[in-house]
Amino acid sequence: MRKPFLSLILSAALVVPTTAAWAHEPGTYESPIVEERVKRFKQSGADIQAIFKKHIGAGNYAAIEEAALRMAAWGRQMPDTFPEGSSSVGANPDIWENFPDFKNKAEAFANAAMQLKAVAGSRQAGPVKSAAQAVGATCKSCHQSYRIKH
Ligand code: HEC
Repeated sequence: MRKPFLSLILSAALVVPTTAAWAHEPGTYESPIVEERVKRFKQSGADIQAIFKKHIGAGNYAAIEEAALRMAAWGRQMPDTFPEGSSSVGANPDIWENFPDFKNKAEAFANAAMQLKAVAGSRQAGPVKSAAQAVGATCKSCHQSYRIKH
């Protein structure tokens, strides 16, 4: 990303598909992949809120299982939506410095969501609430290192 200008021009001639990324200042680049991940994060935000504010109280464990599976699938796909060079206002550039750690955090999130899915099968509010809190902790853990609030 921070190559000298001349080499940027030279490599731009060779790497045509990624040149669009360099036409923008770092941090302002938006693309379909950034839109996609933001959409998926918003869905997780809505899912986790609905679990605490609606589904647990209503005893709607089927809805919790559905939300948990959606989050788990997203956790597994998440690293692929952060390809090298896909900087954005919300993504800390450290993601690409520490990509194995970022991937571990995404995996921890997916695993916690699968655990929530399993516990929801018990139909017991207390354990379900604890498992949902554990999912929330994995969101927070990644955000502390890698999300820029804007
Ligand atoms: C492995 C890292 C990681 C995990 C796990 C994670 N997030 Fe995020 N989250 C991010 C990053 C990075 C961004 C900024 C993405 C961007 O703007 O390009 C973000 C952005 C968001 C946003 C803002 C979207 C917007 O409107 O711009 C919300 C809401 C969000 N996350 C919710 C959650 C919730 C809820 C969870 C857990 C259920 C979660 N995230 C788990 C890394 C993570």
